[in-house]
Amino acid sequence: MKNLTADELRETYLKFFESKGHAIISGASVIPENDPTVLFTTAGMHPLVPYLMGEMPHPAGTRLTDVQKCVRTGDIDAVGDSAHLTFFEMLGNWSLNDYFKKEAISWSFEFLTTKLGFSPDQLSVTVFAGEGKEGEDGYIPADEEAAAIWRGLGIPDSRIYRLPREDNWWGPAGTTGPCGPDTEMFIDTGRPKCSDGCRPGCPCGKYIEIWNDVFMQYNKNAEGRYEPLGRHNVDTGMGVERTVCMLSGAPTVYDTEIFAPIMAAIDELAGVKRVENGELRVEREGAATLNSADVLKARRIVADHMRTATFILCDPKGGVKPGNVGANYVLRRLIRRAVRYGRQLGIAPGFTPKLAEVIAQKYAHVYPELVANLAQCKADLEAEENRFNQTLDKGEAMFNKVAEQLKLHGQTQISGKTAFKLYDTFGFPFEMTLEMADKAGLSVDKDGFDEANRKHQELSRTTSAGAFKAGLQDNSEVVTRLHTATHLLHAALHKVLGPTANQKGSNITAERLRFDFTWPEKMTDQQIAETEKLVNEWIARGIDVTKKVTTVEDAKAEGAMALFGSKYGDQVTLYTIGDVSKEICCGPHVANTKELGSFKIQKEQSSSAGVRRIKAVIGNM
Ligand code: ALA
Repeated sequence: MKNLTADELRETYLKFFESKGHAIISGASVIPENDPTVLFTTAGMHPLVPYLMGEMPHPAGTRLTDVQKCVRTGDIDAVGDSAHLTFFEMLGNWSLNDYFKKEAISWSFEFLTTKLGFSPDQLSVTVFAGEGKEGEDGYIPADEEAAAIWRGLGIPDSRIYRLPREDNWWGPAGTTGPCGPDTEMFIDTGRPKCSDGCRPGCPCGKYIEIWNDVFMQYNKNAEGRYEPLGRHNVDTGMGVERTVCMLSGAPTVYDTEIFAPIMAAIDELAGVKRVENGELRVEREGAATLNSADVLKARRIVADHMRTATFILCDPKGGVKPGNVGANYVLRRLIRRAVRYGRQLGIAPGFTPKLAEVIAQKYAHVYPELVANLAQCKADLEAEENRFNQTLDKGEAMFNKVAEQLKLHGQTQISGKTAFKLYDTFGFPFEMTLEMADKAGLSVDKDGFDEANRKHQELSRTTSAGAFKAGLQDNSEVVTRLHTATHLLHAALHKVLGPTANQKGSNITAERLRFDFTWPEKMTDQQIAETEKLVNEWIARGIDVTKKVTTVEDAKAEGAMALFGSKYGDQVTLYTIGDVSKEICCGPHVANTKELGSFKIQKEQSSSAGVRRIKAVIGNM
């Protein structure tokens, strides 16, 4: 194996594919330009969907290669273990109806073995197992062609795994669009199998997936059926952090050169020292006594979340700031979680801009926006860190009062109601109540907290419905309702204009929603009227909006709208509005479409070439 740095890996990859006739193109913004069904760009293929569909030729040709910044926050709560990241770089090469399986697989193999120096023995691969029966509707054959190519390259059949759709199918990016079977490449870490059934994809981590070649020869149409696309595209994705990790033999991505400067900065700020047997300790006067596992987890969370937040805040497209809805909310969560864990490590306030600077320095030569936009990014971080610290300070003071009172009365448990009040009235995270209680030798009635939370949500739904009638809502409630209206509008446009009317952008204020979508010409009055009518019909039907946390794979199988990455096992929130809409989204949404009252399109206008913009309002009209 060649111990390449991320810089060397990017360069080696792009040059290799350039030598195979690919044009090197720039990666896109991490805030989607072309696809609004997701909050962030989650894979290299997003910006290329129109070209994969064959809607227009790509100006750089039919063979492309690039490095794409990706953000996937579906499993933000899992960050802190050895593998999860919310930001990563994806190397990709594309064939736009040019070469297909033979070249894609052979070049992947050549790159892995000659350029990266992996031994063919370390390699296991998966291919699509097929589904349905020949001659029957929905039949898609097993990808024996890909398997045969791998065998021809010397990979024995015992290391070619045939897996179903959940594992070996990628796309479409939205509800409809290009998709297809894929073949995934795994490096065997050499650890023993965890069980007889252990195979690539097993969560035990014996096999690490580093690359995915997708054969986009199908289109998922508006009826949910997979029809031949009439084109043979290739979409591939190789994770930079994971590959560097495997090449260097580092135990986790956090132990690679990529994270070295940021980990060092965190350790310095917190006073983390490695003591005997490799254990981590915070060695600073007055520092909380944390065990090694806590320290390990907290520094990973701080490092990961700060890296993602810095890339979002510095993104050239701009516009995402800490807030309460959609992408803004995701950013707020990232920063606040980093602050919380930084605080747990005992790092002094005002640390987030310092870490942004270290991150910017590490990536400055690759992503100049991290330098150009650093000053604003630091100011935004500082403001958000301050706001959250104030909340935490107030919450901690309240907690201490509560604890004192309990002790005075000889009690040892914080009631669910009190814990909920700390959370709801003072914005104090429940996890912090648990942590502080633990330190103070108190217990917390967790079931009572859940119960209070549930009751509160029911109540706020009822009052929100009531307040709506009276026209008395605060801004966040209006925004939530407009957010649900946006999902309905998107679904209606798909019905009226067809599956190519795809979201390009969405912006919601307390007054209106604004929705950009791909469509080549002005909508006719009749199309506007039909769209409006459909949305109003769905509102009148009083459809329940349901929410569940699921995996990307399951959401994909259900036909949800969003951009998918099947390789990182993301947990995502799936919002379903009856049979009308299914979108992966961070929420929030109303509980029932009735809460929207009615829907009116105020304006339909051009936004940019090939993109239309709708402004719409809701209310009692
Ligand atoms: N689009 C494919 C993925 O993200 C390559 O895995």
